[in-house]
Amino acid sequence: MKEDQTTHFGFEQVPYQEKQQRVQSVFSSVAKNYDIMNDVMSFGMHRIWKKIALSFCGARAGSFILDVAGGTGDLSAALAKRVGSEGKVFLLDINASMIQVGRERLYDRGHIQNVCYLQSNMEHIAIKDNSLDCVVVGFGLRNTTNKDQALKDFYRVLKPGGRLVILEFSKPTNPLFKAIYDQYSFKVLPKMGSLIAKDDDSYRYLAESIRMHPDQDTLKQMMQKAEFTRCDYTNLTNGIVAVHRGYKL
Ligand SMILES: C[S@@+](CC[C@H](N)C(=O)[O-])C[C@H]1O[C@@H](n2cnc3c(N)ncnc32)[C@H](O)[C@@H]1O
Repeated sequence: MKEDQTTHFGFEQVPYQEKQQRVQSVFSSVAKNYDIMNDVMSFGMHRIWKKIALSFCGARAGSFILDVAGGTGDLSAALAKRVGSEGKVFLLDINASMIQVGRERLYDRGHIQNVCYLQSNMEHIAIKDNSLDCVVVGFGLRNTTNKDQALKDFYRVLKPGGRLVILEFSKPTNPLFKAIYDQYSFKVLPKMGSLIAKDDDSYRYLAESIRMHPDQDTLKQMMQKAEFTRCDYTNLTNGIVAVHRGYKL
C-alpha cells in the first residue's frame, strides 16, 4: 500500500493507515452502551438477523468456529451452546473494550471452557490454515480497511468444505423504503446516539459506513475473487441487511 493512499472512514477520506485507529476510537467509545443501543436502534431486529445468520453456520457439537469482529459476543454465546464441550468458539476482535464486555457477558452465561478470545485484526488471523468449520462475521466486515485481505484470510483458516457466513448491512431494494431508511439513519440515529450514549459522532459513522459498504452483488463478487464457491446471499428486511455465504473447496 502506498504511503499517500487514502480510504474512506464513513464519508470522510482519511490516510489509509489512519482508518483502523479511527474505527478503534469509535468502538472504544460505544463499547459500554453497545448492546442497549443495538436493541434501541434496530427495534430488536438485530436479534432476528443474528438468529438467521446462525442458522446458516452449520454449527454442531464438536465444531470449531471463528466469530470475527465478535464484539460483545451475541453470536459467540449462541455458537458456544451449539458446539458444546468438544467444540470451540474463537471470538476475534481488534478492540479490547468490546472484548472485555463480551468476555464478561459470556462468563456470566457460563460459557467458560469452550470460548477463546483473540485480540487481532481480521486481516491477519493467528490461526493455522485449514482448521475451522465456519467463519462468521457479524456487522464487522465494513469496518476493516482491506476487505479483500480479510476475505483471503477467512479462506485460509477454513477447512476444505468449511463455510463463511457474513451478516452485514447492505442496500435496501425498494426505493421508497430506502428513502425512509435514509431519513432514519442520518437524522434519527445520531440523535439517539447523542441522547442515550452521549455520542452522536459514532452513530453518524455507523450510518455513513453502512452506505460505503459494498452492495449485495459486489460483496458476492469479492467472495468469489477470494476463491469461495457456491456464493449466495439472502436479503433481510428489504435488504437493510444481507447474509452472504460461501464455501471453501
Ligand atoms: C458493529 S460491531 C459487531 C459486534 C458483534 N459481531 C455483533 O454483531 O453485535 C463491529 C466490531 O468489529 C470490530 N472490528 C473493527 N475493525 C476490526 C478489524 N479490522 N479486525 C477485527 N475486528 C474489528 C470492532 O471492534 C467491533 O467490535
